[in-house]
Amino acid sequence: MTDRKYIIVGNWKMNLNVSEASILVHRLHQKIKIHRGVDIVLAPPLIDIQPLSLEIDRRQFKLAAQDAYYKDNGAYTGQVSFTMLRDLVSYCIVGHSERKIYFNETLEDVREKVSAAIRNDIIPIICIGETKLERNSGETKTVINDQLTTAIANLTSHEIQNVILTYEPVWAISTFDGEIAKPKDIEQAIGFMRLTIEHLYGKVVAENVRIIYGGSVDENNAGLFLDIDGCDGALVGSASLNYYKFSEIIEKASQIYLKRSKK
Ligand code: PGA
Repeated sequence: MTDRKYIIVGNWKMNLNVSEASILVHRLHQKIKIHRGVDIVLAPPLIDIQPLSLEIDRRQFKLAAQDAYYKDNGAYTGQVSFTMLRDLVSYCIVGHSERKIYFNETLEDVREKVSAAIRNDIIPIICIGETKLERNSGETKTVINDQLTTAIANLTSHEIQNVILTYEPVWAISTFDGEIAKPKDIEQAIGFMRLTIEHLYGKVVAENVRIIYGGSVDENNAGLFLDIDGCDGALVGSASLNYYKFSEIIEKASQIYLKRSKK
């Protein structure tokens, strides 16, 4: 038993304007009473971050950006840097598959963003996962290894311990009625990621890194995913837009944390 806390991240994607975001945070604040052993992170659209940072109870919620640019400043029309976000957010999602698919983000971009996050005291939540085609061709481990080792290539063993790694198989994102990932597959992927860290940084460091799962997590299946050996939380998309569903997921995490810490 390690004492890694759970972390539940709500990725709102491109949903909720400033007033809708404020209503959701208010409802979550009222509904979530106990979250022992669970860090709660909200990742709203960029435009909501500044107003929410004034509103939230930081003992209850931390904020994350969904993306940022790795240059600190300069002539990069439309971009916002980690440097600009450093006093507003504690975390930033980096390398989400939607950024790779729709905005052509490369593994090298991800590596630069991870370094920029660390340089600005922001914890990167690094997304790693294979497509269906890659899984079916038996390339899952190679893909995970490439994505992971490239993303963390510049990090020291001290820095890696603060990073959050997310196993997010691309084919299991927002597929609630279709195919969802099996706990056994998730356990294997997370185990492989931890072993990769162990090979690079040693066992103690690997045991300290939090690795979470993302892909169609909701209030009904959260218990199943959070109970997976080695899984330290969830990156939640659609279900994080609903205060009832998201708070149920947090409660599940807290229950499992307490159960694990009694062992
Ligand atoms: P989902 O999204 O929970 O809607 O599958 C997860 C994610 O993309 O981070």
